[in-house]
Amino acid sequence: MWENKEEDLWKDATQQTKRIVGAQLTEEDLDSDRKLRPQTLNDYIGQERIKQTVGIAIDAAKQRGETLDHVLLFGPPGLGKTTLATVIANEMGAHISTTSGPAIERTGDLAAILSNLQEGDVLFVDEIHRLNRAVEEVFYPAMEDFFLDIVIGKGPAARSIRLDLPKFTLIGATTRSGMLTGPLRDRFGIHARLDYYTEADLTRIVTRSASILNVTIEDKGALEIACRSRGTPRIANRLLKRVRDYAQVRGCGIITYATAQEALSFFEVDRDGLDWMDNRILEILARTFAGRPVGLSTLASALGEDPATLEDMYEPYLLQHGLINRTPQGRVATPRAYEHLGLPVPESED
Ligand SMILES: Nc1ncnc2c1ncn2[C@@H]1O[C@H](COP(=O)(O)OP(=O)(O)OP(=O)(O)O)[C@@H](O)[C@H]1O
Ligand SMILES: [Mg+2]
Repeated sequence: MWENKEEDLWKDATQQTKRIVGAQLTEEDLDSDRKLRPQTLNDYIGQERIKQTVGIAIDAAKQRGETLDHVLLFGPPGLGKTTLATVIANEMGAHISTTSGPAIERTGDLAAILSNLQEGDVLFVDEIHRLNRAVEEVFYPAMEDFFLDIVIGKGPAARSIRLDLPKFTLIGATTRSGMLTGPLRDRFGIHARLDYYTEADLTRIVTRSASILNVTIEDKGALEIACRSRGTPRIANRLLKRVRDYAQVRGCGIITYATAQEALSFFEVDRDGLDWMDNRILEILARTFAGRPVGLSTLASALGEDPATLEDMYEPYLLQHGLINRTPQGRVATPRAYEHLGLPVPESED
């Protein structure tokens, strides 16, 4: 009895703090990011094509004694954009300053940031699709010809002065490349689109992280965590830490295949990386509504969630992996969802 109670408390705590398979950055990740983030291209696992493109550009720039072309990194959360920006700066032997699109509110803020850069520095702008238009326009000449036009004073007395800037490299990161304007996108010389990682690459990431965290892990244990990580290193590292805790308290401290399986089912992350809530969504669509299309707000109230959270946090992965469909009439579970739940696939009506 007591044992169960403890288990429930632990479950409650983990569910309340956050979603274990959410790709978004959380407070807890920040701490482990510092330790687990690769520092060199060699340590950066997977994304081979990007590593080669970036590696060649870095070598060429270094040989010519020039700064690296501006780099645009895009891809879903947790795939390693910030990490790659840091790696690029390290490989260039450059100092990196970090900011984000929404943090640069006024053109004056940007002028201050740019005029503080030194020759060869990297300026990393996260969420670059969220720059406001006025700020974005200041970026154009700064990126292209390394100068800034600043307006001093107001009204008829206003005048513009030109400020030369040191040659710097802008690295922009975005999860939404479609929201970037054409002129901004065109000013980046190198475009890199990060993809979800293969199970083999994620297994290497888990193994590398385990060794940094000083945990013994068996190959099959690492693969088990990798398979349930939704192709995302951030999730892989997070699952690894939870499994490590479980192995320490409930097992012998070593992450074996069996411990990994046991821990992940304890945390309710299934073999496809779906958590309790994902499965609940599929159950409601397939069982409660028996395959009929369900409107967003109906589905949200059946789940006790608000519609926006449902749309932003839960649906993208299910849509992307072909488990649900959005139709004009509402959300429906796909045949793959029925298979996932172990239910017979209903016959299509047409
Ligand atoms: N290629 C990789 N090799 C090893 N570890 C990686 C790799 N990419 C990412 N990671 C790990 O995953 C974590 C998350 O990566 P990162 O913060 O760079 O993602 P991101 O794309 O910037 O996410 P966001 O869109 O939320 O800003 C890092 O702390 C790092 O430890
Ligand atoms: Mg980031």
